[in-house]
Amino acid sequence: MKFHLVNKSLDKDQFSEILTIIRSENGSSVLGNLSSKNTRDYLNIVVENKNMELFVILNPNIIGYAIIASKPDNLTKNFEKLKFKIFIDLFFKLKFFTLTNIAISLLNIDTLFLDKQNKHLINKSVNLNLLAIEKKFQGQGLGSSFLKFIIQSTKFKTDFITCETDNLRSTNFYMKKLKFNIIGNKIRVPKIFKVLIKKIN
Ligand SMILES: CC(C)(COP(=O)(O)OP(=O)(O)OC[C@H]1O[C@@H](n2cnc3c(N)ncnc32)[C@H](O)[C@@H]1OP(=O)(O)O)[C@@H](O)C(=O)NCCC(=O)NCCS
Repeated sequence: MKFHLVNKSLDKDQFSEILTIIRSENGSSVLGNLSSKNTRDYLNIVVENKNMELFVILNPNIIGYAIIASKPDNLTKNFEKLKFKIFIDLFFKLKFFTLTNIAISLLNIDTLFLDKQNKHLINKSVNLNLLAIEKKFQGQGLGSSFLKFIIQSTKFKTDFITCETDNLRSTNFYMKKLKFNIIGNKIRVPKIFKVLIKKIN
């Protein structure tokens, strides 16, 4: 088992391994709802962009992955050139919740429940955008050691890391296993997301 920072485009097999994990474990995320072609383009942007990093767990196949962004704001900017394709993709799949969430985020409505100080803190923190472990490897301590490795190895040297989640299991994971704290809520449909933060430097 090896943790690895991806620094070149994924080959065909690696892409299909990661796609399977995204589809089964991150099904409610934007990425989890895109076509294979758009998912590939999205991941290539992550690998090529200096403001983002893609980490994987090799066993020797990919059994887990994580995407981090140097700042949450960069996420919107980085996917600018894909935005029309993403819109069409989600629209024709009738993914109206996902489209609404993108709109809420672009209009900065999602942060209405957060106080000014926390908004500022989130904006200058590294953001864990997505994380998943293949189902049969979950609950064995892999997610915790992978995230600890990512925090140690990321080139983005900020004081805090933040992430968001909409379910109790991953909230427990972040709080109990990695000592994140909840700092507020983000407006999303159909569920409100919790925003979590951890001091890393
Ligand atoms: C959340 C996730 C990355 C954690 O990875 P993991 O390898 O299962 O985590 P660990 O084994 O290090 O820690 C397990 C703890 O996390 C929590 N947990 C969260 N989801 C879990 C799952 N599906 N299976 C088992 N434990 C889970 C539990 O609190 C568990 O603690 P316990 O063993 O005392 O019950 C992984 O379960 C996963 O990929 N889930 C689906 C995608 C997701 O929710 N991603 C996070 C939001 S983007």
